Amino acid sequence: SETTLRASFFDFTGVAQQPDTIADQARYLEDGVLTLHDGKVVSLESWESAQSRINPATLIDLRGKLIVPGFIDTHIHYPQTEMIGAFGEQLLEWLNQYTFPVESQYHCPDHAAQMSAFFLHQLLANGTTTALVFGTVHPQSVEALFSAAEQLNMRLIAGKVMMDRNAPAYLTETPQASYLQTRALIERWHNRGRLSYALTPRFAPTSSPQLLEKVRQLRAEFPDTWLHTHLSENPQEIAWVKELFPEHDGYLDVYHQHQLTGKRSVFAHCLHLDDHEWQCLHDTDSSIAFCPTSNLFLGSGLFNIKRCWQQGVRMGIGTDVGAGTTFNILQTLGEAYKVGQLQHYKLSACEAFYHATLGGAHALDLDHAIGNFNPGKEADFVVLDPAVSALQQLRYANSKDIWEKLFVLMTLGDDRNIAQTWVNGQPVWQRESGVKAA
Ligand code: GUN
Ligand code: FE
Repeated sequence: SETTLRASFFDFTGVAQQPDTIADQARYLEDGVLTLHDGKVVSLESWESAQSRINPATLIDLRGKLIVPGFIDTHIHYPQTEMIGAFGEQLLEWLNQYTFPVESQYHCPDHAAQMSAFFLHQLLANGTTTALVFGTVHPQSVEALFSAAEQLNMRLIAGKVMMDRNAPAYLTETPQASYLQTRALIERWHNRGRLSYALTPRFAPTSSPQLLEKVRQLRAEFPDTWLHTHLSENPQEIAWVKELFPEHDGYLDVYHQHQLTGKRSVFAHCLHLDDHEWQCLHDTDSSIAFCPTSNLFLGSGLFNIKRCWQQGVRMGIGTDVGAGTTFNILQTLGEAYKVGQLQHYKLSACEAFYHATLGGAHALDLDHAIGNFNPGKEADFVVLDPAVSALQQLRYANSKDIWEKLFVLMTLGDDRNIAQTWVNGQPVWQRESGVKAA
């Protein structure tokens, strides 16, 4: 049977190649009707044109709310949920002091299951319906996450971390064990329902050439899997990669020479790229995850949004929890705006919402399946309450158009603005109750 919802709707009907053409793809229906069937979008129309065909008995009336496609988080670590906001360090010390000890706990399947449930609940409470997720080195960490996501029918991509050096012994493995465990997880979870697998070497410094050779082999054996790692985040990290891989022409070349660049390769951060690295990302059709809250929190640097467009590189938004400080994409977009301002780049609300929805789907090579309300798309969306505080109401009321209203959401918005989250055509989270509706 069909589900119909009446509300305001905002999305992007197609992918953009330049920032100044994004608005041409935007669709805003102040009074619209979304029809769903079997977890998919049937149509999005104006109330006026759909009215005569609507059965009022089954219509879900959400007038006053704004419905947008589910947010897409292109880089996040689920085991770091419990260490968000760890004080005082930059990347390499932060990893050693805080991250590795926390990740050691995920050898325990019960802990992994408990934190998986908590993590997915946080995503949904913040309107995020798809994420590209790091586990830990333990296969049981992703086993628990995939099992929990399968219950919710979420479109999720995840992988077990692969690392064999420069980390504590309790978190490292041999290249062969990493290969075998990863392979078993791919065979069990990749393309099962809406779940997909990402090969996840942590980053170059924790990877020996032998481990990267195993990752290359897996990618050749399973060419439709994703590749998810970190790149060019912190100056000390970059210098260290050059010491560890002197025969390579820079950081990205370590991945590129192991055939780990390409479509479905997602590199988090990319803050200090050389010209030839930008060119390589473009030439290989690789993607970037821009993680503004993390980059500011760890003092890593400012992502160059303008350069990313100039180079024609796909880019999505990542929260990078736990180095990132929020699960909330609205707040993350607000920080992205400030990162732009520090470089005299004006990130419009139009562009910001694009990166958080269809642009993110494009960066993950999933724009055929999710990211907007085109017919046949998977019905993942967020019901936004556009003004939930006195300040938001004041500012929203004196906003002249949808662009200004969206900008209010990204500067003043947070989890209070997420009224409902729908996954695969079903309501799975609702703010009033604060619990899973399904
Ligand atoms: N580089 C390698 N591992 C990590 C991590 O866990 N978080 C961040 N932000 N960068 C990394
Ligand atoms: Fe990260």
